[in-house]
Amino acid sequence: MLKKYLHEMKSGLTPNTWWSYNEVGGNKQASSDLKALFPDQEVFGTPKPVSLIERLLTLSTNPGDLALDSFLGSGTTAAVAHKMNRRYIGIEMGDHAVTHCVPRLKKVIDGEQGGISASVGWQGGGGFRFYRLGPPVFDEDGQIRADIAFPVLAAHIWFSETGTPWTATDNTPFIGFHDGRAFVLLYNGILGDKRPAGGNVLTRATLAIVRAAIAAADPAFAGPVTIYGEQSRIAAATLENDGLTFKQTPYDVKARR
Ligand SMILES: C[S@@+](CC[C@H](N)C(=O)[O-])C[C@H]1O[C@@H](n2cnc3c(N)ncnc32)[C@H](O)[C@@H]1O
Repeated sequence: MLKKYLHEMKSGLTPNTWWSYNEVGGNKQASSDLKALFPDQEVFGTPKPVSLIERLLTLSTNPGDLALDSFLGSGTTAAVAHKMNRRYIGIEMGDHAVTHCVPRLKKVIDGEQGGISASVGWQGGGGFRFYRLGPPVFDEDGQIRADIAFPVLAAHIWFSETGTPWTATDNTPFIGFHDGRAFVLLYNGILGDKRPAGGNVLTRATLAIVRAAIAAADPAFAGPVTIYGEQSRIAAATLENDGLTFKQTPYDVKARR
């Protein structure tokens, strides 16, 4: 037993674990709300009521917090979180990511007045980013998957090194400059030699090609270079003298930043 005096109590009600239909709505209400938002769309099968999500977010987050819904469905969590001034990440593998979630959030930004808008005084504003996930880079054992193409691995390495999206598309092992450093990936025969280890190993020959690719991008560049490859056949002392950092695939490719 815990004895509490009135003056120790916070104002308001302690949340109850039984949430009735009257308080947080039901799936029927959620479906008709969605139908009102998308009169021409097929109704999404299992939408959650906005007031249920509002209660969950009220209890578990503060304004500015980050809410994750990894089964976003029709986008209810994102729409409610947006109106409640929370940040959010929604993940959805179905087509409704495009047919429902994106248009729903655009309507929210434009000041849509359904759902909890009146209770939170929603007037519109804000924004969101929409990303498509690429193929998984690693297998269950943490190895780079054999069928991963150069641009996919390059994008992964670039993001793990720089924290920014990779946008280059040139067919060269040089993948970009960041903060005065050049990044290079020798992988998957990008140098034209399709033998398994052909273009993936750092040798004097591949280094010359890499140097040429960097010079083509910036003839004046003389800064440090990070090179990812299967193996290096250049002595460690030479690498150090030349400002080259070698990182070995797959071991030095991080799964997370
Ligand atoms: C019950 S619905 C979510 C309903 C949602 N809370 C709403 O109110 O609209 C579950 C969703 O999770 C999605 N889903 C299932 N497995 C997934 C996965 N591995 N990655 C991403 N989405 C997934 C389904 O496509 C479906 O849209």
